[in-house]
Amino acid sequence: MAFNFEYFSPTKVVFGKDTDKQVGALVKAQNAKKVLIHYGGKSAVKSGLIDRVKASLDEAGIEHVELGGVVPNPHISKVYEGLEICKSEGVDFILAVGGGSVIDSAKAIAYGLCYDGDVWELFAKDKPVKATGCAPVGVILTISAAGSETSNSCVITKAETGEKRSYNDNIARPKFAIMNPDLTKTLPDYQTQSGCTDIMMHTMERYFTNGGNMEITDELAEGLLRTVIKYAKILHTDPENYDARAEIMWSGSLAHNGLTGCGNDGGDFCSHMLEHEMGGMFDVTHGAGLAAIWPSWARYVYKDCLPRFVKYATNVMGVNPEGLSDDEIAVKGIEAMEDFYHSIDMPTNFKELGIAPTDAQIEEMAKSCYKACGGPKGSAKLLDLQDMINVYKMANC
Ligand code: NZQ
Ligand code: ZN
Repeated sequence: MAFNFEYFSPTKVVFGKDTDKQVGALVKAQNAKKVLIHYGGKSAVKSGLIDRVKASLDEAGIEHVELGGVVPNPHISKVYEGLEICKSEGVDFILAVGGGSVIDSAKAIAYGLCYDGDVWELFAKDKPVKATGCAPVGVILTISAAGSETSNSCVITKAETGEKRSYNDNIARPKFAIMNPDLTKTLPDYQTQSGCTDIMMHTMERYFTNGGNMEITDELAEGLLRTVIKYAKILHTDPENYDARAEIMWSGSLAHNGLTGCGNDGGDFCSHMLEHEMGGMFDVTHGAGLAAIWPSWARYVYKDCLPRFVKYATNVMGVNPEGLSDDEIAVKGIEAMEDFYHSIDMPTNFKELGIAPTDAQIEEMAKSCYKACGGPKGSAKLLDLQDMINVYKMANC
């Protein structure tokens, strides 16, 4: 039976070639007076995008200051830096120019501007606190991956402790997202493919569930997953392909804005929670980390969610079910997924990812994951602390 749901995706999407030129007008329409241009390492500067953004804001008569240097798995220390600048400069709008890391850093600054206390409290989960507001955020997306440009999620890392934590609230959904697929052509293949992996996983987390699944949602999800598989492979050999970039970019937003989970029980999200600990401890690229943990998670849980794994194997991975038991079909689907990961040079275990946690580190990650989840977690199968340890150990080969 379809479960009740709310679908809220208020972000204005401006998609296509040269759309980044509209940024000044879009910010102006938000009645912003002074903007923080927030960006990452050097890609957006090197490509000339930051200069174009400044020119567009100047043309629209909007004041701006800037803060670059956001790293992948973004740090709370950069958020504090942004907060200082915004407060001293009277910034009333934050423009993220980058990917999930920059967008999430921008969202955290936006929460912090409205929060009377240390904004890390929202992420730490040490006490039950809620955001008290969120300044407006706009996005120019430069990598198709996290889906943060339309999602309600924000993921921040405290580097000193290795804690990588998420906070979700609809008030953080960006006011607009400019998506020009051309901007993603400068990505290294590893980042493109990690992005494709993450995009798929946002929908897979919502697909492998034991409650409330709807046919329309499944059809949308399966179509999205097949599309990403097709165009990820094309981009692997033809990175300049605009149409492939466009297909992936739009899939990235739809995969995580809530659309592919409407009517179900909220999704599983264990692979994500397990990966966040790997990111916190080893600073791995998020999508690659997901590829490295998913096959072990899948093998660990599939018997508890067999109909969904059978459906996935046949409808997404193209497994021919003739003469096979449900169990065999499900396993073939997982194997086909591993083959796909390998075809785009993604890892399928920790060794291929390049990490080798000790048993003590695995226990530490599992305990931290369990805490971040607030107890047992999962819909395909409810994982407790020992289950989390077991999945990490399966992946650690
Ligand atoms: O810093 P620069 O120089 O820009 O380099 C970045 C970075 O090294 C590079 N890059 C981005 N656009 C580029 C480019 N290089 C060349 N050309 C371009 N056009 O790519 C690298 C990765 O960037 P990042 O923003 O970290 O990627 P992604 O979008 O995958 O974001 C990952 C972060 O988002 C979180 C992840 O956990 C991770 O911290 N997530 C956020 C979610 C959300 N808010 O909804 C959901 C996700 O599940 C995820 O957890
Ligand atoms: Zn993700």
